[in-house]
Amino acid sequence: MDTSAPHSGWRLLVSRDDLSTTTLETAPVPEVQPGEALLRVDRVGLTANNVTYAALGDSFRYWEFFPAPDGWGTVPVWGFAEVVASRAAGVTPGTRVYGYLPSGSHLLVRPGRADERGFRDAAPHRAELPSTYNRYASTTHDPGYAADREDLQVLYRPLFWTSFLLADWLADQELFGARAVVLSSASSKTAYGTAFELREHRERHGTAEGPDGPDGHEIVGLTSPRNRAFTESLGCYDRVLTYDETGLLSLERPAVYADFAGDEALTAALRAHLGGALAYHVTVGVTHQEPAPAGSLAEAGSGTETRASSGTGMFFAPVQLRKRVGDWGRDGLGERFGEAWQRFGAAVESWVDVMHGHGGEALQRVWHDVQSGRSTPRTGHVLTL
Ligand SMILES: NC(=O)c1ccc[n+]([C@@H]2O[C@H](COP(=O)([O-])OP(=O)(O)OC[C@H]3O[C@@H](n4cnc5c(N)ncnc54)[C@H](OP(=O)(O)O)[C@@H]3O)[C@@H](O)[C@H]2O)c1
Repeated sequence: MDTSAPHSGWRLLVSRDDLSTTTLETAPVPEVQPGEALLRVDRVGLTANNVTYAALGDSFRYWEFFPAPDGWGTVPVWGFAEVVASRAAGVTPGTRVYGYLPSGSHLLVRPGRADERGFRDAAPHRAELPSTYNRYASTTHDPGYAADREDLQVLYRPLFWTSFLLADWLADQELFGARAVVLSSASSKTAYGTAFELREHRERHGTAEGPDGPDGHEIVGLTSPRNRAFTESLGCYDRVLTYDETGLLSLERPAVYADFAGDEALTAALRAHLGGALAYHVTVGVTHQEPAPAGSLAEAGSGTETRASSGTGMFFAPVQLRKRVGDWGRDGLGERFGEAWQRFGAAVESWVDVMHGHGGEALQRVWHDVQSGRSTPRTGHVLTL
């Protein structure tokens, strides 16, 4: 066992009732017991998606991954960590892993199914939570890993998985018969990643003639006025409208609405305007921080899309992930995703200004910026902790 682990750690706690109230707590670094390993959290990204984890923390059980004192929550973040101590078979100190981490300095895990590709945290409190979030992949055996692209990976990879799977799912559903896809919070990384993928699908499936060809569909982004220029500059959308311009959506083209904003007033306006031309409404996120929709991870995991007949549903990426693992196998899916990620990664480099911060106080500041919506969509916050 490596004894070089520091004796003091910290975590950022967020009040579950008021996400703008936070505190930095210091605590001793946990002792590593037999069967356990200690991770030192190193490099993580913070975007609106992490705020959504907090906003839906109770109903979707996100607070349960990294338990905190009553009334408080530890927000999950994606990133890299290093194994600094291990009493678990097959897990060696010095290994660098990528996975779901707490917004704090350390994570004690109980590795299961450990091999050279990584391990899963088999801690009892995580047993019933979706397995996608419990896996820690060793960088040495991850084909998608590149040491000089860690910033892009922590910012985009978890989001682009959703973009990739959402575009794939929409294509799989033949867009519910729609001729337009409308995406809200179009300036968000997950939404424009989805638009990027929808364009790829359109080009790959013989509809290169674009939105106006016989089988073409239009990809429309909805955003706030301050983010319109940025959203247009990406070139992912055929058309960008601001939230007060939903009246300009065509009634001639039935539309599927991929909702990243979760804004009830916006949804009502869209429904009122489109009426029967709204073919399907899928909720993907709540950047506008509406109250949590009813449901749970377990419910969602058992088949969100089955609500298709009602014309509305939640998108939960692990469901489509499981389907594609069944259709294509793990390697087939990995290959397809890898190709898509290469294309997107190359494009996205010029769309983001990475801002680096270091330590707990920087993390706390960035949390407040992202949670309040003050952060600009061009900024990608990466923190080394
Ligand atoms: N279901 C899933 O599996 C899944 C997976 C990944 C992400 N998501 C969801 O996708 C959404 C986007 O996440 P992201 O990480 O890609 O976001 P991001 O890049 O950080 O998005 C930033 C944009 O979100 C909007 N926004 C952020 N905070 C806001 C606030 N406080 N008030 C109003 N608008 C705000 C603004 O866009 P506009 O001005 O354009 O509205 C802003 O430009 C999140 O809700 C996330 O949970 C869902």
